[in-house]
Amino acid sequence: MPECIQITEGLTDLLVPKEHSHGGPGKRTGDVFFNAQMAFNRDVSVMVIRSLEDIVDVADAMTATGARAVRIANEVPRTMVVANDLEEKSRWFIESNVALNGLSNCQTNIQNLSCLLAEKSFDYVDLDPFGSPIPFLQATIRGCRKRGVLAITATDTAPLAGAHRAKCQRRYQARPLRGPMCHESGLRILMGAIARELARFDRGMEPILSFYADHYFRSYVRVKEGAEAADDTLSKLGFYSYNQSTLERSFSPASDADHVHGPVWGGQLHNPAVLLEMHTDGLATQKRVDKSLAIWRKELPTPIFYEIGELASHLKVPSPRLEVLLEALRSNGRAEKCHVTPTSFRTDLPLQTIKDLFIQASGRKDWN
Ligand SMILES: C[S@@+](CC[C@H](N)C(=O)[O-])C[C@H]1O[C@@H](n2cnc3c(N)ncnc32)[C@H](O)[C@@H]1O
Repeated sequence: MPECIQITEGLTDLLVPKEHSHGGPGKRTGDVFFNAQMAFNRDVSVMVIRSLEDIVDVADAMTATGARAVRIANEVPRTMVVANDLEEKSRWFIESNVALNGLSNCQTNIQNLSCLLAEKSFDYVDLDPFGSPIPFLQATIRGCRKRGVLAITATDTAPLAGAHRAKCQRRYQARPLRGPMCHESGLRILMGAIARELARFDRGMEPILSFYADHYFRSYVRVKEGAEAADDTLSKLGFYSYNQSTLERSFSPASDADHVHGPVWGGQLHNPAVLLEMHTDGLATQKRVDKSLAIWRKELPTPIFYEIGELASHLKVPSPRLEVLLEALRSNGRAEKCHVTPTSFRTDLPLQTIKDLFIQASGRKDWN
């Protein structure tokens, strides 16, 4: 028996390795992997599946201790879950966790996910790798049924957010963006890559929920069948321009001399109607999910956001409180918080109006 401890996450008891991570990106160690900080990520999976009544057959393709699979089976009893991992040493943890919760709807499977997903298909496939999901994406799409849901994590934040540009180019065949919007762009590069891979199978996608949190990106997308859906999905890809001197930024479906960052997904990050169906009862990090859900529900569909610190240093005025600024912006157009950083917002107003209202909100009336 491996050295382990028992914890409770959400409504589920779990045996996890005594030595485990409490934050940061997943790293391969000698033991079976468990990261306590990813409770939020697992909570969101439970919340999403709970809200999608047609999801029954679930594959947790990279399950490690079985934490996510066992939570889904226990907390969404209608599901039939396959808890899969490549490593034989995961078996003890998965089987013990299934037994600990008295489950009959969670099956242990030790196999390369490419084999599992070639043999069987599912309503929901979860991919939670160390680093980039790209090497596993094709297999995941093959194993996802018509109108199924893909749930994809990427922890290779540095390439996606532009710190390792060449690696982003190699993995995602996309040029990342540096600056305050780097994580927004990273999330959308990941989504763009999912969209392009789906299109190879004459499939499209409709995002349910996509976010950046802690050290990772996560996207839940509903697969749409057919060439038309694939073409429609591809039409939502595009490129960012970003001018650091003026703070001008824009999104264009085509690349040109200015729009060089991408391709990125330019469509919605979330489906507002599905988000309204979600609730946080019984989740491990309920307060945090409540707070995030409130922001996700209101986020504007634009791929552009602005950040208070960047505007303040550009305009050389003090930073107003976000709520004060939002109020000023809302008297002229639409403006809502953006989930990516706590000091960012999305709006449909032009940059000059944003700058004028920012100066007013910062209390410096003498600026021109
Ligand atoms: C980051 S961990 C998953 C953590 C887990 N989802 C959780 O919430 O605790 C990644 C896991 O993927 C497994 N893995 C790596 N390559 C795989 C493959 N080709 N097929 C199946 N599992 C694989 C690793 O053994 C490891 O346990």
